[in-house]
Amino acid sequence: QGHVFTYDPGFTSTAACRSTITYIDGEEGVLLHRGYPIDQLAAKSHYLEVCYLLLYGELPTGTQLEDFERRVTQHTMLHEQMRNFFSGFRRDAHPMAIMVGIVGAMSAFYHDSTDIADPWQREVASIRLIAKMPTIAAWAFKYHVGQPFVYPRNDLDYASNFLRMCFSVPAQEYEVNPILSRAMDRIFTLHADHEQNASTSTVRLASSSGANPFACIAAGIACLWGPAHGGANQACLEMLKEIGTPDRIPEYIARAKDKDDPFRLMGFGHRVYKNFDPRAKVMKQSADEVLDLLGIEDNPTLQVAKELEAAALADPYFADKKLFPNVDFYSGIILEAMGFPTSMFTPIFALSRTVGWISQWKEMLGDPEQRIGRPRQLYMGATERDYIDVENR
Ligand code: SDX
Repeated sequence: QGHVFTYDPGFTSTAACRSTITYIDGEEGVLLHRGYPIDQLAAKSHYLEVCYLLLYGELPTGTQLEDFERRVTQHTMLHEQMRNFFSGFRRDAHPMAIMVGIVGAMSAFYHDSTDIADPWQREVASIRLIAKMPTIAAWAFKYHVGQPFVYPRNDLDYASNFLRMCFSVPAQEYEVNPILSRAMDRIFTLHADHEQNASTSTVRLASSSGANPFACIAAGIACLWGPAHGGANQACLEMLKEIGTPDRIPEYIARAKDKDDPFRLMGFGHRVYKNFDPRAKVMKQSADEVLDLLGIEDNPTLQVAKELEAAALADPYFADKKLFPNVDFYSGIILEAMGFPTSMFTPIFALSRTVGWISQWKEMLGDPEQRIGRPRQLYMGATERDYIDVENR
């Protein structure tokens, strides 16, 4: 409320792009999707409704939502021949390596949604990617753990379908738990879009050359993988486990402050937020809820996380540098409690962010003034000079 949007014409001359999808105020810790605050969407909406909002700009009517969910549900299966791609990977391949490969390969199977000049093909590609990402991520997990693939079902909601494809085995059907499904759906929603972050900018840059949507989303997945970006949720949980007990927290706080030590507190700091990441607050509540449900509220990793957060927030160094917990600080704890290995954390981030990448991709293609991306540089190299033959060097 009361957020006045001032328009600085000079800004557009330096801004990477114009967008109407997501607004972030890093100083105030504000995140709006098409004007709606993220905490309201996380509390009152659900992921596929947020997908509709991001893609089409308005919250859907009941009929529009029903139709959208039906179209997504009808596209959750992968072309059966794509199963062969999975078996080409080593069993210990990181699921992100598999996702980059499979999503890029989709352009070889779904020719009828690769022509970006055709609005209908853009629409079909968008639905296909949102619908198939849970299947791809779940099958990457199943392949990684050596279990048979589980096919999606049309009678389950998006999050329940994903959890079942991950955890159901022939010997034991997965029992959908509404609280865990809700927590999974909330994680999808909290990661859906985030303005012009590194992976979204990668998707926009790749799309600006006219590359097909599957290749562009594969590029976004590759960028998200880095530990400074989407890979931070995996790195954060591994850091919490390495700390192990609260008494070792001061040692790690000291390392994070040591200029000569490359160690950084994973899950802390942000390129834009110089206040609390509003997503982290919701994620923290969700972590308490899930661990309480599973009866592991005294989870040692959560204890270390809470005491590390308190110690860092009380330390002037982090306050002075405006370093606060970000979205990745608590998500890993929830995902681990659900039974996911750390290697699945970033694939789940990629699954969630697909709608943000796609929405920004569609927005960019719809901008008549859009041209191929061409970031400029500040040249700091040698001035012009003549060639020297090797015998004279
Ligand atoms: C995501 O852009 C997005 O929107 C991304 C994302 C999304 O939804 O798409 O929000 C998702 O990527 C969240 C961020 C996840 N990454 C991590 O949690 C990794 C740990 N965080 C850091 O690597 C770091 O904070 C970054 C990469 C996130 C931001 O790096 P910056 O821009 O260099 O941070 P900064 O300019 O605010 O740093 C200010 C100072 C620097 O020290 P000085 O040069 O001033 O001496 O704080 C230091 C940094 O070295 N610093 C940290 C730190 N983060 C920054 N010191 C210790 N621990 C940290 N985590």
